[in-house]
Amino acid sequence: MLPAKTLANSPSDWWRHAVIYQIYPRSFADGNGDGVGDLAGIISRLPAIADLGVDAIWLSPFYRSPQKDAGYDVSDYCDIDPVFGTLAEAETLITTAHDLGLRIIVDLVPNHSSEQHEWFQAALAAGPGSPERARYMFRDGLGENGELPPNNWESVFGGPAWSRITNPDGTPGQWYLHIFDQSQPDFNWENPEIWSLFDGVLRFWLDRGVDGFRVDVAHGLIKEAGLPDRDLSNGPPAPGARSPFWDQDGVHEVYRAWRKILDEYGDDRMMCAEAWVMPLSKMAHYVRSDEMHQAFNFGYLSATWDPAVLRSVIDESLEAFGGVGAPSTWVLSNHDEVRHRSRLATKFASEGKPMGIGPNSEHKPDEELGHWRGRAATALMLGLPGSAYLFQGEELGLPEVIDIPDDRRDDPTFFRTNGERYGRDGCRVPIPWEADKPAFGFNNSGASWLPQPAVFGELARDQQSGVESSTLELYRTLLRLRASQGLGSGDFAWLPDFPEATVAFRNLGIAVIGNLGTAPITLPAGDILASSGPLVDGHLPGDTTAWIKIAN
Ligand code: GLC
Repeated sequence: MLPAKTLANSPSDWWRHAVIYQIYPRSFADGNGDGVGDLAGIISRLPAIADLGVDAIWLSPFYRSPQKDAGYDVSDYCDIDPVFGTLAEAETLITTAHDLGLRIIVDLVPNHSSEQHEWFQAALAAGPGSPERARYMFRDGLGENGELPPNNWESVFGGPAWSRITNPDGTPGQWYLHIFDQSQPDFNWENPEIWSLFDGVLRFWLDRGVDGFRVDVAHGLIKEAGLPDRDLSNGPPAPGARSPFWDQDGVHEVYRAWRKILDEYGDDRMMCAEAWVMPLSKMAHYVRSDEMHQAFNFGYLSATWDPAVLRSVIDESLEAFGGVGAPSTWVLSNHDEVRHRSRLATKFASEGKPMGIGPNSEHKPDEELGHWRGRAATALMLGLPGSAYLFQGEELGLPEVIDIPDDRRDDPTFFRTNGERYGRDGCRVPIPWEADKPAFGFNNSGASWLPQPAVFGELARDQQSGVESSTLELYRTLLRLRASQGLGSGDFAWLPDFPEATVAFRNLGIAVIGNLGTAPITLPAGDILASSGPLVDGHLPGDTTAWIKIAN
């Protein structure tokens, strides 16, 4: 047993090696039984997360919001949505986390607000050219009567990135930019008022004791001057490709300014960029020493189940982030992606990320394969030095939920693409706690904003706790070893002489060996500390990762 964690013995650069557990408040635990998770639910279930052995939690947005994009459409950044609870409960949550030895980071959504934000409502009421409109990206339309959008940009969720407003007198008015849903107007970050707004938001939450921020769409705040058309002559741009609305140099000024604010609060507050910017050497610009502390490693999340691809993305990550003195992060699942257990057990294991999987998708995951691959992938990830992110429910081996009826879906992606992309609901289904309770312990009423499949009963936390072969116990073992052996701040080297199909490295005194092929491989001498699946005649079978104690 490790000594109980307290924040007092957590170093100021805790984030360099932390394992951070993402809580998606809508789906974690529901205290009032309305079918949507809330802060009271989180507070009551937090000891289970501390017990898992993580260092920190990241909470997806709980702010006041019409919930058009599950809370990423914020109408008040300094208040809690009634569906989640109250500001007093948020304060209790922060102290509860700290008392359990968990750091807590919250989501900051600076690229856009909700259309219900008072500033957007004021912008609609005020005319073109007004200071109220200058807080957002309003433009006149093209064409004889302004009937065409100002440029060819498309929303990330499908369809045009511009919507036209109707003037108070009923005539068609200007257009406004929304890189995401129509309900999420983009702020104009050329306007100092937006900088002041977010300076205040940062201080508001830092004053309440949060340890940092996950910064939503960090690469999107600044748009190229003149808002030029996107070049689509070579087909749709690759994810992470630069564009007139992604990765403009000006975004870095914002983070330099925010870094100064964080530093005023001491040297243990951090920011993590959600910046879909490739290659990783460009993503690393977000974590230069005077900007953010971490960036989500989407290169790693996007890697196919291919040893050469994984080896190369690990090298690239250590080099890119290490080159600017930042830790690499590692992540396999989050609230926007098909759960890794399922993703790695479809054709996407070799073809790259899907945009959701649903009842009519051609390729459905092979559940048995996914069970073993998901575990093997996690055991590889948690052996790497740096900081790792987990998404709620992956420690239970939850699969992507595929059979969600169309009329129960919630993700705007599904609706904006007329069902062509299933989107992200399948990873957001409320998680199971106790097999025999209503909604598998998510609440006491049985209500659930997305329907839970029967398999969630078998995978409920109480069914796995104490069961040696369970995925939950595998996560506990790996996290305990990672902490006790100091792997997060470890020392990485590739192990030579392993077959092509393996990803084999040493981190301090532990060899981490993943077999991504089919033929069993011989393991080096040493105690086997953990294995993601059973060995076969002492050999490591395919889709399995082992941790072995070797001489330093
Ligand atoms: C980020 C969030 C995603 C959200 C989008 C718009 O990508 O992770 O869930 O829909 O930003 O805020």
